[in-house]
Amino acid sequence: MNSKFNRFELIKSAIDSLNFSYAPYSHFNVAAAVLASSGKIYTGVNVENASYPAGICAERNAIFHAVACGEKEITAIAIVGGLNGQITDYCPPCGVCRQVMREFCDPEHMTVIIAKSTDEYKEMTLAELLPESFGTDSIV
Ligand code: THU
Repeated sequence: MNSKFNRFELIKSAIDSLNFSYAPYSHFNVAAAVLASSGKIYTGVNVENASYPAGICAERNAIFHAVACGEKEITAIAIVGGLNGQITDYCPPCGVCRQVMREFCDPEHMTVIIAKSTDEYKEMTLAELLPESFGTDSIV
């Protein structure tokens, strides 16, 4: 577990981005904020499309944002979401997003935070969310 970082700042970054979520079909808005090993935070939101499968989840958007800015390692992610932008419950990451996180971190030391607010949240490692995972080390 990556324990030395500012949870408040990471969760607030996700909450502050939620307004940018584009979800006219599901009306389920999601936002994520990724902490890279550089110390920088990158946000992402779900972006849906009239051709449904062309849309993307908030978590992958945030991770790809980080990679597009030169990052190769992420150490934490905070996720918020809910119907019509109302955060009434926890929003756990989907399986595809868990696998994408796996590509850019050490699962035992990657912190995944699901939050209802800056002071009501749960955190776990990616290894707990994606046990016995398949990664780059599996194919060399
Ligand atoms: N969604 C995410 O952004 N992240 C997840 O981990 C689960 C689902 C989005 C995809 C879609 O735009 C909406 O939530 C409803 O599934």
